[in-house]
Amino acid sequence: MAVSVFGAKEIIEGFEDSSFLVTGRCAIDILTAKLKIVDAELFLELGRNVLVHTDGRLKSAESILSKCRKKGYAPTYENVQEKLNDLIGVRAVCSFEDDVYRMAEVLKTHKDLKIIKRKDYIKAPKSSGYRSLHLIVEIPVYFQEERRWVRAELQLRTPAMDFWAGVDHQLRYKKGKQEAVLIGEELKEYSQVIAELDKKMVELRGRIEAM
Ligand code: GTP
Ligand code: MG
Repeated sequence: MAVSVFGAKEIIEGFEDSSFLVTGRCAIDILTAKLKIVDAELFLELGRNVLVHTDGRLKSAESILSKCRKKGYAPTYENVQEKLNDLIGVRAVCSFEDDVYRMAEVLKTHKDLKIIKRKDYIKAPKSSGYRSLHLIVEIPVYFQEERRWVRAELQLRTPAMDFWAGVDHQLRYKKGKQEAVLIGEELKEYSQVIAELDKKMVELRGRIEAM
């Protein structure tokens, strides 16, 4: 395999010219459809919706490059395809914490979805306080008479976890500023508050259902 070292321009052109954009967007659509189907299936069982909303994105060339730099990979087209799991990202916000696991359990039964890796940052939050369930998955996309297994990162989380991650994301842009450390520590405490709230909401739902 020829491994040439590309610069920013080549990476951008490589992705823009390749079928990656087409198959990547289709992979987002397929994963989103799967989430909606599971939601419909669980609605029949539970009498309520599990999925609050979904979001999908292709990683920008800029952020591909900065990740390569951070991880110390030469930014070649091959490296990027092989090593980055989140070129394609889909996020599913689910009503309750146990719904996140319900959703993942049903997806596990889909024969046309391979779960390559499962990272449970709900059971074991990241040092920042970040919580979500991540599944690195592969799904088949048929394109130009070929079946490609396309890899994507699926992030499953509750609205509270999503709220927290959004604020944390904003803080990341202010990294390096003196106050950011203190705010980060405070935010970490709120991650705990949110974790407790998520648990209380599941309990409360149970009591409402039992009424
Ligand atoms: P990167 O963290 O993206 O370099 O990749 P990784 O291979 O270490 O995967 P990881 O599971 O740590 O994170 C993947 C994605 O989860 C990130 O791109 C973010 O979208 C999200 N994420 C991880 N940690 C945090 C965090 O501390 N705060 C926020 N807001 N998001 C996070
Ligand atoms: Mg990380």
